[in-house]
Amino acid sequence: MEKDVLPRHRPQWKTHVGFLLAAIGSAIGLGNIWRFPYLCYKNGGGAFLIPYVLALLIVGIPFMILEISLGHKMRGSAPASFAKVDTRWEWLGWWQIIFVMFGVVLYYSVVIAWCFNYLFFSFGLEWGADPNKFFFNEFLMITTSPFEIGNVRSPVLFFLGVVWFLNWLIVFRGVEKGLERANKLFMPLLFVLMLVLVGCSMKLPGAFQGLSVYLMPDFEKLKDVRVWIDAVVQIFFTLSIGFGIMIAYASYLPKKSQIVKDAVTICVVNSCFSLIAGLGVFSVVGYMAYKLSLPIDQVVDKSIGLAFVVFPKAIGMLPAFPKLFGVLFFSCLVIAGLSSSISILEAFTSGIIDKFHYPRKAVVSVLAIAGFMGSIMFTTQGGLFWIDIVDHFLTQYGLVLGGILECILIAWIYRAYKLREYMNKFCLWRLPSLWDYTVKLIIPVALAVILINSLIKELASPYEGYPWLAIVLIGRDWVIFTLFFAVIVAARQWGRQPDEPIEGLKIDD
Ligand code: ALA
Repeated sequence: MEKDVLPRHRPQWKTHVGFLLAAIGSAIGLGNIWRFPYLCYKNGGGAFLIPYVLALLIVGIPFMILEISLGHKMRGSAPASFAKVDTRWEWLGWWQIIFVMFGVVLYYSVVIAWCFNYLFFSFGLEWGADPNKFFFNEFLMITTSPFEIGNVRSPVLFFLGVVWFLNWLIVFRGVEKGLERANKLFMPLLFVLMLVLVGCSMKLPGAFQGLSVYLMPDFEKLKDVRVWIDAVVQIFFTLSIGFGIMIAYASYLPKKSQIVKDAVTICVVNSCFSLIAGLGVFSVVGYMAYKLSLPIDQVVDKSIGLAFVVFPKAIGMLPAFPKLFGVLFFSCLVIAGLSSSISILEAFTSGIIDKFHYPRKAVVSVLAIAGFMGSIMFTTQGGLFWIDIVDHFLTQYGLVLGGILECILIAWIYRAYKLREYMNKFCLWRLPSLWDYTVKLIIPVALAVILINSLIKELASPYEGYPWLAIVLIGRDWVIFTLFFAVIVAARQWGRQPDEPIEGLKIDD
């Protein structure tokens, strides 16, 4: 028991591949399968790959290197690592992990619960001939506004319980026995299922038309600043950077790790997975357009609609094995979603253990119950509106502002060159000084432009035409409340000083 209360050793990944799979599992999530293909389609098809790849190279990879090296050097969760740099900035680490734990993962787990429902619906193709009516009217029983909350949808609530039980079970078992083992199962399974799905989709008649719309460049669209903003925000969300996750995961690495190579690997595998998932999604959409003799733009829908309306419809029209196809697609979503949600729970757990020394099992149990309760709001009939608004505010503002502040703290206050020199001591892939300028200037400036642009757009017309009151009460206040709690937690006394060694490493220390 005493070992649990005052752990002498910081947990550590058993194998290097275990860490890589867990980090890739965190990055690959729902966002890769439904959001990326739609963004590509909306933002000029293949031309979107230009801002996407640039955002990956200029923002994604350097920021990933920053987070992994910081966690590795400081050997702590986001709050502990930031506090070691400057105790006055501890709140930033808490803010990041609080808005992810009491924001993103609350609705993210509800969407995984929808995927679970659809996985079972696939066995009987229960959405029938009108998946749109089925999804909105029969499954969600959606109300007409965010203020009309309605009742909790019991099928969603049931699978929400399953999602939080799995989150709890995996994180409760710890880094090596829980997260590492789960991802060693999840990731290979996800890759195989996705490859089978994409292979089968690309053989369908009409697939080629779908793929040409997905990948055909429309360079005109690149003149729109929104396209560039979408690319950067997608890179942040998809790589799980600015979430405090990669900092915590890297803190469990052994001393002489190949941080730079690992960061690049995680980013590249994640983006390749998105591209491949897009091939599958658009082949199926092409097939559907072909069957209905409609142009593709009349069958494509926004993110959620793409997964829960367009895809089920296409599945119902497949010439062979439609049920199996549905099971494959929704299994991919469930696995990708779970491997990301457990990483969010771990990032927060790690922060609490570092600061307050509470035993992991108690922390995870309390958090899983709180997470389940907090998610219930999103399982109501008005939940979809809430998901839409909270997601918009947390990703467009919380994530972006957190990213800017993280760059200021690490690149300016701590100094980027110190981290670079630290990495260059043991990394075979040496970082050039260009990295310092990227994290000091290019990334914060790019993020500041996004933030200002989003604010201007928001003030000119409220997001998706929602009433101002909903935007303020649900969106803005969610961001403010998480900030408020972050400041309160940061003000609490440390169980140990932030600059004391935290759970020293087993092997190399
Ligand atoms: N990185 C995760 C996703 O893209 C959160 O869904």
